[in-house]
Amino acid sequence: MSRSAHPAGPRHADVLPEGHYTAPADDLNALDPKVWAHTVGRDADGVVTVGGIAVTQLAEEYGTPAYILDEADFRDRARAWRTAFGTDADVFYAGKAFLSRAVVRWLDEEGLNLDVCSGGELATALSAGMPAERIAFHGNNKSPEEIERAVRAGVGRIVLDSFQEIVRVAHTAESLGKRQRVQIRVTVGVEAHTHEFIATAHEDQKFGIPLADGQAAEAVRRALQLDGLDVIGIHSHIGSQIFDMSGFEVAAHRVVGLLKDVRDEHGVELAEIDLGGGLGIAYTSDDDPREPHEIAKALHEIVTRECEGARLRTPRISVEPGRAIVGPTAFTLYEVGTVKPLEGLRTYVSVDGGMSDNIRTALYDAEYSVALASRTSDAEPMLVRVVGKHCESGDIVVKDAFLPGDLAPGDLIAVPATGAYCRSMASNYNHAMRPPVVAVRDGAARVIVRRETEEDLLRLDVG
Ligand code: LLP
Repeated sequence: MSRSAHPAGPRHADVLPEGHYTAPADDLNALDPKVWAHTVGRDADGVVTVGGIAVTQLAEEYGTPAYILDEADFRDRARAWRTAFGTDADVFYAGKAFLSRAVVRWLDEEGLNLDVCSGGELATALSAGMPAERIAFHGNNKSPEEIERAVRAGVGRIVLDSFQEIVRVAHTAESLGKRQRVQIRVTVGVEAHTHEFIATAHEDQKFGIPLADGQAAEAVRRALQLDGLDVIGIHSHIGSQIFDMSGFEVAAHRVVGLLKDVRDEHGVELAEIDLGGGLGIAYTSDDDPREPHEIAKALHEIVTRECEGARLRTPRISVEPGRAIVGPTAFTLYEVGTVKPLEGLRTYVSVDGGMSDNIRTALYDAEYSVALASRTSDAEPMLVRVVGKHCESGDIVVKDAFLPGDLAPGDLIAVPATGAYCRSMASNYNHAMRPPVVAVRDGAARVIVRRETEEDLLRLDVG
């Protein structure tokens, strides 16, 4: 991501402080469609609207902070992935990005499958009626109870992550008189160009079984011998917020290499490969993500070419996008509480949420955009840092951005592209109450995850 300092000074400083920020947009009132959900716009009064509803009305009805999710956009993106991959591939939405029962129903209706990575996500999926055979169960340390629940429910696949788990799942399935479909997750040794904590295919980390030194081949060997397992394929997930397809290219090459070795050694052609998720989205106007149809085409071509080279039947491909589907569909709506100019530095804008509803800035140094949402303004741009209300100086929502210089307490501001890994990673830090998720569609809004209350907090505190 390229960053450049703005040549003109912000309102409160002659010289810009150190930082990573883009120049202010020519028009601070403009909403770049790259980072905002499809139906977002401004009404005649300049108020931001989504699904035909003004954010001022949403704030009044549901309070702030709130995650506002554009249901039509979610469905559009889910459908775009489904259509792009066609009927000879499967799209598993990665529930860890954001999962609720409404989301499960939308996925079901749009023909997507679901990847879950915990007993809680599995329970949510099943309780909303997702057919078990369309669920994939992930995790590097699934508990015996989670494994049993998944096998009993009849999930379509369990992705095995260690030698111990191969045995555990096999025993559980056998003891229940079942044969569980499984994939084996391998680490292909790719360095994904993303933050260290969200890169997952280099060898020195906790996920998967390394291809290097024959460990993955040994895992397949053992799994094929166990009656409780039906080994359907190999899984690789190289990381998250990735723009460059070259990592997938190397991953596909190495996974197909394993398929070839398995064929040569066991005479078995594994039927499926899963290339994981990880496709990046635009958090700021500098990010240029690829469209699902480009990704689908590239992945199909890579896998087909590799399989032809290895004289293998092309396996069925699956992918697991989370962020790329839900990320752009929601924004967080905050009310400004204080505006604190620091001469020669920047202006601190405090909002009524913070790291408890969006930990990504503090955790990954993530970049976000922000816009004044309750009105437009022609005031000069000022360089701001949007911060939360938590007792921690790292409690930053948007590190460097420009907002109109007349920003004042009571204004509503909106941070786009918060649909993924914000509500799902939200916490009760400082006993904050997690915000609701409000879904908007065709002029109607409804709460799909309600706001936490003091009662919720105190209910867990049993004295
Ligand atoms: N499949 C597997 C096996 C995964 O581990 C993940 C994400 C995905 C699919 C979906 O990845 P996506 O398409 O959403 O990038 N909390 C971090 C991201 C952690 C991702 C964990 N695994 C963040 O906020 O950036």
